[in-house]
Amino acid sequence: MAEAQNFIGVSAAIARLRRDIEDAARCDAKVLITGESGVGKEVAANLIHAGSARRSQRLVVVNCAAMAETLLETELFGHVKGSFTGAYRDRMGVLEIAHHGTVLLDEVGEMTPRMQGMLLRFLESGEVHRVGSDQPQRRVDVRVIAATNRVLADEIASGTFRGDLYYRLNIIPMFIPPLRERREDIPALLDQFIGTCSREYRVPPVRLSPTAQALLCEYEWPGNVRELKNVVERLVTRGQSRPIEAAELPEEIRRRAGAKPAHDHGPAAARREADVLFERVVHQGEDFWLVVHTPFMQRDLTRADLRALVARGLTETSGSYRQLVTLFNLPPSDYKRLLGFLRKYDCQMPLRQFRSAHMSVA
Ligand SMILES: Nc1ncnc2c1ncn2[C@@H]1O[C@H](COP(=O)(O)OP(=O)(O)OP(=O)(O)O)[C@@H](O)[C@H]1O
Ligand SMILES: [Mg+2]
Repeated sequence: MAEAQNFIGVSAAIARLRRDIEDAARCDAKVLITGESGVGKEVAANLIHAGSARRSQRLVVVNCAAMAETLLETELFGHVKGSFTGAYRDRMGVLEIAHHGTVLLDEVGEMTPRMQGMLLRFLESGEVHRVGSDQPQRRVDVRVIAATNRVLADEIASGTFRGDLYYRLNIIPMFIPPLRERREDIPALLDQFIGTCSREYRVPPVRLSPTAQALLCEYEWPGNVRELKNVVERLVTRGQSRPIEAAELPEEIRRRAGAKPAHDHGPAAARREADVLFERVVHQGEDFWLVVHTPFMQRDLTRADLRALVARGLTETSGSYRQLVTLFNLPPSDYKRLLGFLRKYDCQMPLRQFRSAHMSVA
């Protein structure tokens, strides 16, 4: 990953973090990286791995929030042929795949109590038991890095996260502060992303007027560095040669309303996002895989957004996934791929609600 090369920032917090990353790379201890969404937790994990003795082996990232529990279990531990419907062959889990390497357990705070128990058992024994296997357990050598945007102390207090697991994971704690608490990093990040984005899109680097630059530095950035990067990308793709003026910045930045916490992404926000996606995919014929799948995999779209989009589509097709493929301007041959994708990330909707809704209208 190119960005793993540099953790951009000039603030004291980032300087400290760079030292912590170097220290963590020198040993094998478990690391728990915390911080709001989009602050750079995955970048930090990449840097730790890339600086460690394990760098020639793999870093495997598992997003614990994106999968249903049973899927996460087989993803981590693997399974043997016939252990459940659809298990046509033996499959290695991530913990085995990453043998001698590193596993990043992303969004570890979202694990169910049962999965937390299984993870704890693995951390204590270093042994992997494939689902459905009666073979002896396999010992693996992996370094575990965990990340979460939840405040695990609160989760422990409310009983949703196990204290014993927390103490196992939190050997080297690393907290990445939100961007609004280290605004001195903003100019460096703007520079960096303007450079990388314009190279990527082969356009001359955009320039910012002093007021535009000032507004970008004052904004709250509820989505942190990820949001900043997305804004830069939008500005760069305009390919404009004169400097960007304040009036040309996205509305939320002009308003300086900011202050919206990163986690404020309720059902209403998901529906708005879904409406925009629906318009782009259905009416403007933009490619579903580019506009929806890619951002979802990069976490720029949440599962709630994707579910809202699918729900909106199924309402139109009265619950038919075949017709959904057509509605989303996909070739019929993409049917399996679409369903597989939605199923994997638990975004396949029960059809009944759409069918009965349609009938009651009819
Ligand atoms: N200090 C940084 N230097 C360069 N790029 C950064 C930095 N911090 C974040 N980024 C970029 O911002 C985006 C979001 O970062 P990342 O995916 O690491 O966030 P995260 O904390 O893991 O978020 P989430 O909790 O949503 O998973 C990525 O594109 C990443 O490359
Ligand atoms: Mg992440």
